[in-house]
Amino acid sequence: MKHPRPPVRRAPASPFNRPRTATTHAFSDPRRIVSLALQVLRKAGREHPADSVLRDVLRAQAALSPQDSHEVTRAVFAYYRWLGWTREASSPDEALRLAQDCDRRFARDPGSFPDEDLARRAAPEWIAQEMETTPAWLRSLQGPPRLWLRTRRKDLERVAQELEECAPPTIKGCFQALEYRGELDLFRTPLFHSGAFEVQDIASQIVGHWCDPKPGETWWDACAGEGGKLLHLSDLMENKGMIWASDRAAWRLLKLKRRAARAGVFNYRSAPWEGGERLPTKTAFDGVLVDAPCSGVGTWQRNPHARWTTLPSDVHELAEAQLKLLRHASRGVKPGGRLIYSVCTLTRSETSGVARLFAESTPGFAPEALPAFPEAERGNNNEAWIWPQTNRSNGMYVAAWRRAGSA
Ligand SMILES: C[S@@+](CC[C@H](N)C(=O)[O-])C[C@H]1O[C@@H](n2cnc3c(N)ncnc32)[C@H](O)[C@@H]1O
Repeated sequence: MKHPRPPVRRAPASPFNRPRTATTHAFSDPRRIVSLALQVLRKAGREHPADSVLRDVLRAQAALSPQDSHEVTRAVFAYYRWLGWTREASSPDEALRLAQDCDRRFARDPGSFPDEDLARRAAPEWIAQEMETTPAWLRSLQGPPRLWLRTRRKDLERVAQELEECAPPTIKGCFQALEYRGELDLFRTPLFHSGAFEVQDIASQIVGHWCDPKPGETWWDACAGEGGKLLHLSDLMENKGMIWASDRAAWRLLKLKRRAARAGVFNYRSAPWEGGERLPTKTAFDGVLVDAPCSGVGTWQRNPHARWTTLPSDVHELAEAQLKLLRHASRGVKPGGRLIYSVCTLTRSETSGVARLFAESTPGFAPEALPAFPEAERGNNNEAWIWPQTNRSNGMYVAAWRRAGSA
């Protein structure tokens, strides 16, 4: 079936999807940019994440040029990135201006921000209870992350050639990844609409390689969401075998359906699952991936608003939810099959804390060694952290087990 290309629209702005344009235009109105940024700041809050408010505000500005949308996005994200430096400002306008100054100064001269200052201001105090807040990590929070593409295996060279301004990553084993350094709005390119690539952070791509599914196997992506990792698993399986996708958000599974059609992924089926004891299928799987909901601390450089809205109580609630999901999903692993737990967060309560509680309370699963990736820090043999500062990527944690017995 042919899938028509969607109408060309302004790409919604977000740290993942920066409005980009190859042409520059000379008529920016700085007052309008500031006024739109302030509109976002006024509406954003714990219940209204800044990136989604920003999308709505920009969507309502049909006449705004991509360049100006980009400037509004930059201003909003600078505001939250530097909030710890601007709290004493007399008004939101002044805070915004100070934050933009800090952003420019950090890009020009990062050393002018001493480590002690970053330790006090770049992240909320409570995070030090949950992870080691090294100077390198804190610095990584203040600069822009890199933009990574995951190409379909057969399209790697074509994408690199046609998009230009792509750099292969230095990470051995991430053979489908390209870092994009250009200015195009990627979501409008014919290559994107042909399914030749997805925007996917390199840390998430490493998770796919750690799963390492083989053609013909049967996998369950238990928290598949919009399918970022599922599409990768399918490509690694050469579209052969079967992947079950489940999630409690039906709208996410619908988005996955559209993405799968674009990528030409046909070896999957989806079913809703709330995370309870009753699994969506009786199938016993070669591999189960639990890419669990988490506090997202590993994405704080992309999403600086979340630094100030995430609470310690969220971390604890999410850790409990992850443990439950892991225990329940583990029942779908066949004897000899593998269970992979991943989260884009770095708090101890969620990551290693959940892995330890799972191992202590679930008999029949032995730690399964993860293949070495030079950029990942291995803890126990079966767990690894990817730190944002290593590649200017997201931070991730992964742990793996194998179920006792043979298939
Ligand atoms: C980290 S996201 C998954 C991202 C996805 N795997 C990807 O690579 O694009 C976590 C997902 O877990 C889902 N989720 C949250 N609570 C759940 C539950 N109790 N049962 C099943 N899914 C849940 C969320 O809707 C969300 O889509």
